Amino acid sequence: MATWWQSGAIYQVYPRSFQDSDGDGIGDLKGIEARLDHLVALGVDALWISPIFPSPMADFGYDVADYCDVDPRFGTLGDFDELLAAAHARGLKVLLDFVPNHSSSAHPWFRESRASRDNPKRDWYIWRDPAPDGGPPNNWISDFGGSAWEWDAVTGQYYYHAFLKEQPDLNWRNPALRAAMMDVLRFWFDRGVDGFRIDVLWHMVKHAQFPDNPPNPAYRPEMGGMHAVLQLHSTDQPEVHAIAAEMRRIADGYDGDRVLIGEIYLPVERLMHYYGREAPEVHLPFNFQLIEATWDARHLAALIDEYERALPPGGWPNWVLGNHDRPRIASRVGERQARVAAMLLLTLRGTPTIYYGDEIGLADVAIPRDRVQDPRELREPGLGLGRDPVRTPMPWNDSEHAGFTSGEPWLPLGPDWSTRNVAAQGGDEASMLALYRRLLHLRRKHAALAVGDFRLIEAEGDVLAFERRHGDERIVVALNLGAEPQPFALPEGDVLASTRGGTPKSGVLRGDEGVVFLARPA
Ligand code: NOJ
Repeated sequence: MATWWQSGAIYQVYPRSFQDSDGDGIGDLKGIEARLDHLVALGVDALWISPIFPSPMADFGYDVADYCDVDPRFGTLGDFDELLAAAHARGLKVLLDFVPNHSSSAHPWFRESRASRDNPKRDWYIWRDPAPDGGPPNNWISDFGGSAWEWDAVTGQYYYHAFLKEQPDLNWRNPALRAAMMDVLRFWFDRGVDGFRIDVLWHMVKHAQFPDNPPNPAYRPEMGGMHAVLQLHSTDQPEVHAIAAEMRRIADGYDGDRVLIGEIYLPVERLMHYYGREAPEVHLPFNFQLIEATWDARHLAALIDEYERALPPGGWPNWVLGNHDRPRIASRVGERQARVAAMLLLTLRGTPTIYYGDEIGLADVAIPRDRVQDPRELREPGLGLGRDPVRTPMPWNDSEHAGFTSGEPWLPLGPDWSTRNVAAQGGDEASMLALYRRLLHLRRKHAALAVGDFRLIEAEGDVLAFERRHGDERIVVALNLGAEPQPFALPEGDVLASTRGGTPKSGVLRGDEGVVFLARPA
């Protein structure tokens, strides 16, 4: 029997941009609660909410100043309890975002740690002496550009930050820190949350000797400064696995199939280690291959095959098409192919994660220079690395500010919000939203789609076709990744969905058409 996180679909809410309830232009928990019925109608099973904890918002919540409370901009702990109860009452699970690699520099732990070299919390963060020339201890580079070491004049040492200097890395080799962070998981599990997405899990432990990272031979400046070196010694260290296994033991100690999802950007081979080899680790190490994929049938077939083959015994697959850090699918492949991509995401074998707004085909929104918010863009401007374009407010209807807020939205809405919104698409059978609802409904109805086996049928030219099978049920998915018609022979049976609507033609896939087909039992 499959668990909810295997057969179900996950929906990512970026809380600043989902729904504002108090007119400050920033989304909040009461706003999310007011929109839960959208998720029910869509047909997802769980929402993952990006960080909602007290934070100076240097990295919009990924700089946590208190792991066990809610930022007043988002509401209160009471609001969270209400949201959780309201979600559960609708059969929706709620996942929070655990940020264990680093805290905010405003966290009381860091304030203590930086107070003096002999403070009891000194070792909760990563402090090193300068190199002999007085410079940073090694050549490690922040993911947001520049040295990953910040000089602290008061205590005469550097501290390490893989992201902003306002996000000092925690020292997971320290047992007291480790215990305190495990208690954070318990705090939220005790409150009833159904699981966590774990931020940059593969970053959590660094090489004990802090050797220089090797230069990246493929580096070009337009990739962003972080790519000048390979993160060989600063990430993916063997010791991280015991920590992930401890988190898993905590999750497994609770009833009701709590789930852990790890954010890990690594080659497939290394990603698989995070399922756990000696002991179970995260249930779902996020699989970001589709987020980075070239939109080509053979390429997609090869990456699906590579991933399926690499899965360890019992390891459940998952797929992600978009998130709050990467360009939106509609901007990467265009509006028509975004429909085909939705069909791919929701028919592959494994748990899909849907990024808010993708269900109405939102595209990246151009942000005027004077409205840029993201520190990624502000630190390395003009490289196209900024994430504001994918974090713009959700358009709900054609009223002022798209029903998102009664105030001024923190980021601008896209130019087409008055027509591209949930209300407009909800009444249109041909809309992207209708397609998402249809596909999610099919996953619930057909075990072959939810949990069936996967077999590739064809990857030729623009056609990618595969089969999902469970018992006697056989579903064929055929996708045309190009704009021209392509010959494809569907078996005898019934069309369950087409990205183009209407009746697919026999023997041919129309341009930009994907079809889900229920084959008649032989
Ligand atoms: C990964 C998150 O997804 C991203 O938004 C954030 O900036 C970094 N981790 C740092 O927490």
